[in-house]
This record gives sequence, structure tokens and C-alpha cells, in this order.
Amino acid sequence: MAAIYNDAVARTVATFDVEPRPDDHYADRLASTRRGDHVLVAVDAEGAVLGYAFSGTYRPRTAYDGTREVSVYLAEHVRGRGLGRRLYDELLARVDADGIHTCVAVIARPNPASEALHRALGFEHVGTLREVGHKFGNWVDTAFWQRLRPDPS
Ligand SMILES: CC(C)(COP(=O)(O)OP(=O)(O)OC[C@H]1O[C@@H](n2cnc3c(N)ncnc32)[C@H](O)[C@@H]1OP(=O)(O)O)[C@@H](O)C(=O)NCCC(=O)NCCS
Repeated sequence: MAAIYNDAVARTVATFDVEPRPDDHYADRLASTRRGDHVLVAVDAEGAVLGYAFSGTYRPRTAYDGTREVSVYLAEHVRGRGLGRRLYDELLARVDADGIHTCVAVIARPNPASEALHRALGFEHVGTLREVGHKFGNWVDTAFWQRLRPDPS
């Protein structure tokens, strides 16, 4: 998981981290037992990690407890084959079952694949913060995408 993430750190603006993260970057997420927090990892037949999706704290204040931030990262060689959708389908099903009211995704632009994935999964673009990041010598916008829990009725 760290290798996939650190490839995005080094080569893309998908994350605003600029330094590689240690192997235990995901330890807190994996250890969380809080309702609505999930980490899903896709592996191949040999157990090699192909990608992962997770839901976690949006902001650490109690009134945000019904909200989760979600994200997904895949190894480059498995992108564009439906794996992101499969991970998100399962992630959102679990988050919905936990009663989470809304999911937020923050997408640095440009990232047409991520915006297409979120749109395909029922997220809507609710706004963009302009030039809030600075990476590789350029100012970067972040788009906010949101999905309210479908009415269970
Ligand atoms: C973003 C990412 C997770 C998408 O996963 P994926 O497996 O490649 O996407 P899928 O094959 O499941 O496709 C999902 C939808 O996005 C569309 N899509 C995928 N790649 C696309 C691209 N490069 N441009 C436009 N649309 C694209 C697909 O057509 C599909 O839409 P549809 O269901 O309406 O046909 C993957 O590209 C990735 O890991 N990128 C690098 C890390 C990253 O940017 N993560 C997001 C951080 S916010």
C-alpha cells in the first residue's frame, strides 16, 4: 500500500504529500474499529497488493461523525479495468450499512480518472478550491465531490 501511495507522492499531484510516507502510514486506518471506517485491499492470486480504498475521518470534530472522507489508489498497471469501481462499490456498501450520512472525496486537479470514477459512483461535484496546493512548481486546485447516503426506502 505504501509503495502505491508513494508512487503517487513522487509522480503526481493526486496527493499533496511531497515526501514518501513510511510503511506504517496506514497503521492507524487498519487498526480503526470505528463504525464507518474501512480499508479494502485488492490483491492478485499471489497476494501482491494491486490497490486499496478507504473511508476515514473527514474532520476530527464530533459533529462530523456522520461524514467520512474516502479515497482509492491503484497500482498503475491495473488502472482502467474496473478495479477502482469494484473497490468503491464495496466500500460504499459498507459505509452505507454503517449508517454514514455523507461521503466526501477531495480530488486534486487534473485527475480525470478519479473524477470519472466518483461521478460513476453517484458523487456530485460540489465545489473547487482554487490554487490551494503547490506541487512540482504549479498551483493546484482541489475539487470536492460528495455523495449522500441513498434513501434506504
Ligand atoms: C482514480 C483510479 C482509482 C480509478 O480507478 P480505475 O480502476 O482506473 O477506474 P475504473 O476502471 O473502475 O473506471 C471507473 C470509471 O472511470 C472512468 N475512467 C477510468 N479511467 C479514466 C480516465 N483516465 N479518463 C476518464 N475516465 C476514466 C471509467 O470509464 C469508468 O466510468 P464508467 O463506469 O462510467 O464507464 C485510478 O486511476 C488510480 O488509482 N489513479 C491514481 C491514484 C489516484 O489518483 N487516486 C485518486 C485520488 S483522489
